[in-house]
Amino acid sequence: IMAALGLPIGTTLDRFIKRQQSQYPSAVGDFSQLIRDIALASKIVNREINRAGLSGLAGMAGSTNVQGEMQQKLDLSAHIRFLRALNNGGEVAAIVSEEEEEIIHTDHPEGKYVVALDPLDGSSNFDTNVSVGTIFSIYRRTSMIGTAPTAADFLQGGRRQVAAGYVLYGPSTMLVFTTGNGVNGFTYDPSLGEFMLSHPQIQCPAQGSVYSCNDGYVDAYDESVRHYLTRCREQGCSARYIGAFVADFHRNLLKGGLYMYPGTQQQPDGKIRLLYEAFPMAWLAEQASGLAVANTKAILDVTPRGLHARTPIFAGSAQMVTDVLNATNPKN
Ligand code: AHG
Ligand code: MN
Ligand code: MN
Ligand code: MN
Repeated sequence: IMAALGLPIGTTLDRFIKRQQSQYPSAVGDFSQLIRDIALASKIVNREINRAGLSGLAGMAGSTNVQGEMQQKLDLSAHIRFLRALNNGGEVAAIVSEEEEEIIHTDHPEGKYVVALDPLDGSSNFDTNVSVGTIFSIYRRTSMIGTAPTAADFLQGGRRQVAAGYVLYGPSTMLVFTTGNGVNGFTYDPSLGEFMLSHPQIQCPAQGSVYSCNDGYVDAYDESVRHYLTRCREQGCSARYIGAFVADFHRNLLKGGLYMYPGTQQQPDGKIRLLYEAFPMAWLAEQASGLAVANTKAILDVTPRGLHARTPIFAGSAQMVTDVLNATNPKN
């Protein structure tokens, strides 16, 4: 059977983390604890999501976030749950969240890490019981331990991430993450309260026959993107768009496919946020032998201009991403 770090399917997340830590003799366990804190927060959010209709968390919170989006109650609840778990864990000195404009400083300026977070991805799906997710991205801070982290700690660039992953709250709840040695997927067993290794060393098929984009906006895409999509249809591709990046990305990662949220005249940088959506997912894509590009270059090489900066994104199967890159940047 496939394995990861020599551990078989069914291994608990905790044992996996321990085995991973043992590969770094100098590690003192802070990073391992941080991954555990994220898993704990996702179990708490999972419980609320599974009782959505009964928890009074459906619907709008009545506030808007820095993105100009109407916040769902669960956007804020997931935001608070992750903040609390990361604060209590003590490893994180500061957090940037989709749901808060400013950097959130924890009670632990001695923490070595900072986390960029999309607490609830695809939140418009929540009230109608369609899959949603959480996306996280972890950096080792560059500022001095004991001080309050600054934007520079978060704007180090996508290739400086030390961990990145997502939780997919779907028919089953999965935690999928990388620390730079491949991508491993864990499935939550609520009867045990444990994440168990279910998808070791995920590899994204180089070719796929599914594209994910919001068909309602295609007329606003660049002509070259529209031509690429026409060719996809001519080649028999099918379209799957769930409205949650995490869900579309996960399907494409396992089965092959391409997710795109291109820029348009009105929104040249598209919608997907660099720090807590594009960077983590781009690293996962590359770690699983896929690709993720903005218009002309790898997402991971895009310089983040601000904490909530957006980027166009084409992510998934390497051949599909290469094809759309060639289609949108014809060799002159
Ligand atoms: P979020 O719910 O975190 O704001 O992200 C939603 C994103 C992404 O998950 C999804 O693919 C996309 O927005 C859907 O946007 P459109 O409704 O504009 O297609
Ligand atoms: Mn949102
Ligand atoms: Mn999102
Ligand atoms: Mn979100």
